[in-house]
Amino acid sequence: MIPYGRQSIEDDDIQEVIKTLRSDFLTQGPKVQEFEEKLADYCGAKYAVVFNSGTSALYCAYKVLNLKKGSNFITSPITFAATVSAGVLNNLKPSFADVESDTGNMDVNLIENLITEKTRLIVPVHYAGHPVDMEKVWNLAKKYNLYVVEDACHALGSKYKGYKIGSCKFSHMTIFSFHPVKHITTGEGGAVLTNEREFYEKLIQCRNHGIIKGEDWFYSVEYPSFNFRITDIQCTLGISQLRKIDKFVDKRRKIAEIYNIELSNHSLFETPSEKKYAYHSYHLYPLRVKDSYRKKEIFRHLKEKGIGVQVHYIPVYLHSYYRKKGYKPGLCPYAEDFYQREISIPIYPTLNERDLNYVIARLKEIN
Ligand SMILES: Cc1ncc(COP(=O)(O)O)c(C=O)c1O
Repeated sequence: MIPYGRQSIEDDDIQEVIKTLRSDFLTQGPKVQEFEEKLADYCGAKYAVVFNSGTSALYCAYKVLNLKKGSNFITSPITFAATVSAGVLNNLKPSFADVESDTGNMDVNLIENLITEKTRLIVPVHYAGHPVDMEKVWNLAKKYNLYVVEDACHALGSKYKGYKIGSCKFSHMTIFSFHPVKHITTGEGGAVLTNEREFYEKLIQCRNHGIIKGEDWFYSVEYPSFNFRITDIQCTLGISQLRKIDKFVDKRRKIAEIYNIELSNHSLFETPSEKKYAYHSYHLYPLRVKDSYRKKEIFRHLKEKGIGVQVHYIPVYLHSYYRKKGYKPGLCPYAEDFYQREISIPIYPTLNERDLNYVIARLKEIN
């Protein structure tokens, strides 16, 4: 099976990890801070705090905002459930802004209408690696005094108007995930980037049981939290992978360009677009089937041919938890239409020419 995404691990990554396995620290050692400093440096942010998953990074980012129970946040329905669950677990209530039909990103022109006196936070999701129009989000946030947390789990290496995603130029915090299908991997892992010292210190506390450390043996639990720590073994892999991020993104963009050329004239498919302000890092290549009623048959056909396609995403509010809370089909028609038509086809740095040509040939023969 040719998967839709996979990690790219080379011998040098393995050698680095072996060194750490032989060192004094498997966790809570120097590799954690080294990874954080290199990540912050790459993105152009002041601080990075790394976590054992993107989900725990999201959870702590929402947590450190210290929002009143029942506060509202506005996000996209076309995202992985964690974007929303992490808010719900912090006693926040989600509102969903419908998406643009071409990028699948939240339509920033629809946000203002959703803002109420309970709204405290906007969570743009850079779907597939295509940046959201962040300057518009930031202007709204300033106008209504709201926080902005970017879910950039798909977007390490992307740029918005020339600024790296993760620079937090237009947000308070930015989240990444290092799951194996993402741009770089630590096995499981995540990060929060920020330019604000206060958030940085609170994120470190949230990662480690709500503890602040004092002199000698003393420490104090300020509030109950979890063990969200990532190991030095994982951070070593992350450091090694981060050296290759630009090469990885470049390879993804080259594959996307080939798909665009080969498939843009196909009568059944629509290819993804890249807006003028965007530098797309193509975590995913979301192909859209023009006639939604044919999607299932095409999806199954590709699977039968050994192509591990996937669908990103079922609109979050259609999951049973949210249905029980009263969210109904029809809430975001463009998101539902996007879901009806989207199929993610293979894209990852080690996708070789033979497999790429095979995927293209199987797609082209569908009529
Ligand atoms: C948009 C988005 N947000 C959050 C997450 C959660 O990240 P993790 O799997 O590292 O917990 C993911 C992971 O797939 C994601 O795609």
